[in-house]
Amino acid sequence: METWDAIRARRNVRTYSGQPIPQADLDRIAEAGWRAPSASNRQHWDFIVVTDRDQLTELGTVWQGARHIPGAAAAIALVLPEPADDRTRVIDQYDLGQATYAIMLAAADLGIGSGHSSVGDQDKARAILGVPDDHFVAFLIGLGYPAGRPLAPIARPDRRPFDQVVHHGRW
Ligand SMILES: Cc1cc2nc3c(=O)[nH]c(=O)nc-3n(C[C@H](O)[C@H](O)[C@H](O)COP(=O)(O)O)c2cc1C
Repeated sequence: METWDAIRARRNVRTYSGQPIPQADLDRIAEAGWRAPSASNRQHWDFIVVTDRDQLTELGTVWQGARHIPGAAAAIALVLPEPADDRTRVIDQYDLGQATYAIMLAAADLGIGSGHSSVGDQDKARAILGVPDDHFVAFLIGLGYPAGRPLAPIARPDRRPFDQVVHHGRW
């Protein structure tokens, strides 16, 4: 897919066809996160690629908005260290947002849908994934081919009006 088409086609996909994702494609999607920029190139993140059905099922219980994870072909857990201070916390989250979007665009480029989930029950998420106590599972990204309509550029996305959001020169 062209980059511009991938940007316009990405949307949260929460129902998946059940078709497995080839390992090379999962590797590429993870590599997109690995290549993402971060403040001072700190790369505080770790990514856990999950394809085991039992783990995916269990991950579906760590947050009310994680119900799409059990039906995904795979998920990527985005892990951060407990931050030393508030500034680190803010920057780590910013960095993770960039990694998330790189992962989602790389998936869209391959026709693979992706869906965010927050994580509520940290102890459970850490136990499922073997994450050490001084780290936390910040977000999950479900991955899979869309069950319904395939990814295609969206003409009118559900967004605030462009002219209200984009300013030129001054607010
Ligand atoms: C920080 C963040 C957390 C999110 N958490 C969840 C979640 O827990 N469960 C979920 O289904 N979607 C979650 N989403 C997806 C958003 O609801 C979605 O991106 C938004 O409604 C825009 O829709 P779109 O991604 O299809 O364009 C999250 C998105 C972001 C950026």
